[in-house]
Amino acid sequence: MTDKKREGRRGLRLSIGNFLKILPIRKKKIEDAPDSDVRKTGSYKPNELAGIIHPGLQHLIVTQVKDLTEDVKLYRLEADRENGCERLAPFGAGSYLTFEMTVGSGRCSRPYSICSSPKDAEKGFYEIAVRRTPGGVVSNYIHENWKEGTRVTAQEPAGEFLYEPVRDAKHVICLAGGTGITPFRSMVKAVLEGSEDFRIDLIYSARKEKELLFREELDGAAGTDERISVRYVLSDEEKAGYGTGFITKDMVAQAAQDGEPYSVFICGPQKMYRYLDGELKGLDLRKKYVRRELFGEIRDLSDEEDYVRPGADEFTLTVSQNGQRTAIRCRRDESLLCAMERAGIAAPSRCRSGVCGFCHSKLVNGSCYTPAQSDFRREADRLYGYIHPCCAYPLSDLEIDVPAAGKIKI
Ligand code: FES
Repeated sequence: MTDKKREGRRGLRLSIGNFLKILPIRKKKIEDAPDSDVRKTGSYKPNELAGIIHPGLQHLIVTQVKDLTEDVKLYRLEADRENGCERLAPFGAGSYLTFEMTVGSGRCSRPYSICSSPKDAEKGFYEIAVRRTPGGVVSNYIHENWKEGTRVTAQEPAGEFLYEPVRDAKHVICLAGGTGITPFRSMVKAVLEGSEDFRIDLIYSARKEKELLFREELDGAAGTDERISVRYVLSDEEKAGYGTGFITKDMVAQAAQDGEPYSVFICGPQKMYRYLDGELKGLDLRKKYVRRELFGEIRDLSDEEDYVRPGADEFTLTVSQNGQRTAIRCRRDESLLCAMERAGIAAPSRCRSGVCGFCHSKLVNGSCYTPAQSDFRREADRLYGYIHPCCAYPLSDLEIDVPAAGKIKI
């Protein structure tokens, strides 16, 4: 038997020994416990803990607004105690918050990556950065209406774009485009403060130097921690000290260490994902080592190879919810979720990218198109006619059965 195996068995024996010691203590606790159902007393620890980690909705208050660039603002949010939120739900670096709001007569939700760190949440705040996009209903609404003191509602933190030591390599090459830097800022802060431990090589691209966010902070992090390095790439400017053009596979290969496994994490605009898919092919990376943050709703269906544009520009979407049927209009280029929100129907949603399944609904009749890159439905859901309205687009008049929005109260 090797030393390693012997050590392993010894560890196992000790564990069993410890376990046996615990048994009489557990037995005594059970004997001493009250007869009442502790789950209903309000002091049942697992319930308390679950309530802290999964509060459902969180009432927050904007406590700081800062201009990062001409069109990007940073919002600091704290627990709104007057509205019953005592503390912020914890999160892992790379998570997002989905905000619920009413814009005009429509109900909307939007996910934004948390760009502050997990320890910042313990201290009492989250931060998000919002870029105002031309014609962007929600981003413009937020820029115009969120001030210090504004009360907002967000779902609990969610997301899959987290570092997972069992799956991901210890060396992560992070590719950020524009405001796609936000989850990486959280990861960099998490590594600095000790809530995460992995090496980050960040390649951050923007159109111009003035559009780079958190520049000083990122440089500061790279200067103080040898696990972090940052490189900038500008697509619309040529400047000394910056890469020019787009992030390339050669830049990624350069950041990789000889022979050592590395993961690639990507967050940026939709076009960047499409472009990087082609670039990264040449590096022959294992699938599990390439991770993408959510890319939101597909804006331009004409980029989808298998999309056949339907004959009409608008369809009737009948929504069955809570025993009520409502017929609304749905444009051929908007998701069923967007059409429902525009009509003021409270449909459940979270990631708006087809991933989380929160909007899962039954297609009763008619047909719709789901882009392959957003189709994360289970095989059984596909077989039994379930769709994700956040990434389903009408191909005919159709009817869907939508669950109630549950806890969403605004
Ligand atoms: S909102 Fe996540 S799958 Fe539709």
